[in-house]
Amino acid sequence: MYRTHNCGELTVSDIGKKVELAGWVFHKRDLGAMIFIDLRDRYGITQLVFEKSLYEQSKTDIGREYVISVSGNVVERSNKNFKIPTGEIEIIVDSYHILNPSLPPPFTLENETDGGEELRMKYRYLDIRRNIIKKNIELRHNLAREVRNYLSDNGFWEIETPCLIKSTPEGARDFVVPSRTNPGKFYALPQSPQTFKQLLMIAGCDRYFQIVRCFRDEDLRADRQPEFTQIDCEMSFVTQNDVINMFEGLIRDIFIKIKGFDTGKFQKFSYDEAMNCYGTDKPDLRFEMKLTEITEKVKGKNFKVFDDAEYIAGISAKNCASYSRKQIDELVDFVKKPQIGASGLIYIKYENINNFKSSIDKYFTKDELQNICDEINSTVGDLIFIMAGEKEKTQKALGELRLEMGNRLQLRNNNTFVPLWVTDFPLLEWNETDKRFYAKHHPFTSPQDISVLKNDPAKAKANAYDLVINGIEIGGGSIRIHDKNIQKQMFEILGFSEEEANKQFGFLINAFEYGAPPHGGIAFGFDRLCAILGGSESIRDYIAFPKNNAGRDLMIESPAEISQQQLDELGICIKSNFK
Ligand code: AMO
Repeated sequence: MYRTHNCGELTVSDIGKKVELAGWVFHKRDLGAMIFIDLRDRYGITQLVFEKSLYEQSKTDIGREYVISVSGNVVERSNKNFKIPTGEIEIIVDSYHILNPSLPPPFTLENETDGGEELRMKYRYLDIRRNIIKKNIELRHNLAREVRNYLSDNGFWEIETPCLIKSTPEGARDFVVPSRTNPGKFYALPQSPQTFKQLLMIAGCDRYFQIVRCFRDEDLRADRQPEFTQIDCEMSFVTQNDVINMFEGLIRDIFIKIKGFDTGKFQKFSYDEAMNCYGTDKPDLRFEMKLTEITEKVKGKNFKVFDDAEYIAGISAKNCASYSRKQIDELVDFVKKPQIGASGLIYIKYENINNFKSSIDKYFTKDELQNICDEINSTVGDLIFIMAGEKEKTQKALGELRLEMGNRLQLRNNNTFVPLWVTDFPLLEWNETDKRFYAKHHPFTSPQDISVLKNDPAKAKANAYDLVINGIEIGGGSIRIHDKNIQKQMFEILGFSEEEANKQFGFLINAFEYGAPPHGGIAFGFDRLCAILGGSESIRDYIAFPKNNAGRDLMIESPAEISQQQLDELGICIKSNFK
């Protein structure tokens, strides 16, 4: 037997017991006649005392991160540590075994570590020993368990779908896998199980879910990994409200179970409202600072920037009228960054009633500036920012500035959570380069009004919804098309010839011939949900073995070349100048 207890469970009620423990040597302190060791395992830390005959031996032959087992007596500590559950006791060791020595770890395994990201990823198994990462892995497990409980209690079946599938366009590039047994043919890894879950509805499974790995070959960011996990769900005989109610229930339940509080009913915004008020389809509602359109109020004053603009709007930052020239210049630089792409930023410092400092003093009288401030709902002491230009681009840029001001004013607190639904998305997006429409969600999303789709596709709205928490898109879904003729029309509008549509999606179009029920669903980004509940920006912290920003796993050194023999078996030849 290695242990009678774990390192996190012994307390004063165990004093006097003879126990055996096993774990890793976390800290070792030599106090002259005795050695103190903090023994660590998944459950916690227990202080061990090596004295008398064990002192000399343990001094030399036990090192950091060694795996040891000890036997000894639980005694009360004189110097108590009330911060940890085992902090009132210690073990007077009477014998020990070294189960395995360890090299000194390449970085300190403390919460605050000296290890850079690359080093930690190379030795991720050591990184996970750090309490802060271990807690994240535990949170992920707890979340998965709650999801399974809630969905199982509501009649959902967890059904696995294949990973080796066929390339289907869903926005990102596919990862592909060559087939040895089918020379020259490739599988694709699923970007999501979208078509399979729809087939399961046609199969009569009624309520499906899966905590499932998805693969997308896209540019990576803090909240994007090439392989990530979805809580993927689908239901039959449902309307949009049925889906929203079911999954609002799931998310509220998760907050209650994991965070210990109810978020209350979620707000709902249409896509247009979200864009108009916050300049984004994923608004962060932890703070106000709404966009106010002032296009008609400010034109006609010979100010070319306004007179030429399709759209003009402003935001008001509370109590920022005292911002210095330098602070304002920083914000001008911020909005001019290529990712944001604004050409400039106009400001009004609302210093007092009828007393302003502004970059448009030349064109507007004090009364007119007062009117603008009133229109934007600002009060004395506020700093007003105005942008002008093409509507969507300007809304987005002002939305980014709003978030930046939210950061600067510390209004985006990680302990506040404001979930909301965004609905009524445009069904299609026009791509000027390709001169064609793309589906905003995916090609299986049903239109709200089929006649609008036929007559003016650009105006068609989707039966789709996103769940947003604190400015992050946590989930998205839709009511699907279940009528083969509408699905065919949709493919047509998306520029698929009948032949192409059949080649790519013949299996689904065929299945629609055999009694497809009305159905709809949603998928949540499981890693993102973990990160938001854990209060972190990066989903990597919640994935046991994540990839870096270049899509590489630094520990196993992947991706990597394969042998010539493997290439030959697959009939693959790498171009000589291929980079
Ligand atoms: P969608 O593409 O919106 O929908 O994906 C659903 C959710 O998955 C998360 N997500 C990601 N998380 C980490 N890394 C990524 N690269 C990544 N990409 C997406 C997001 C997103 O909201 N089949 C549809 C769902 C449906 O219609 O039911 C789908 O995959 O949180």
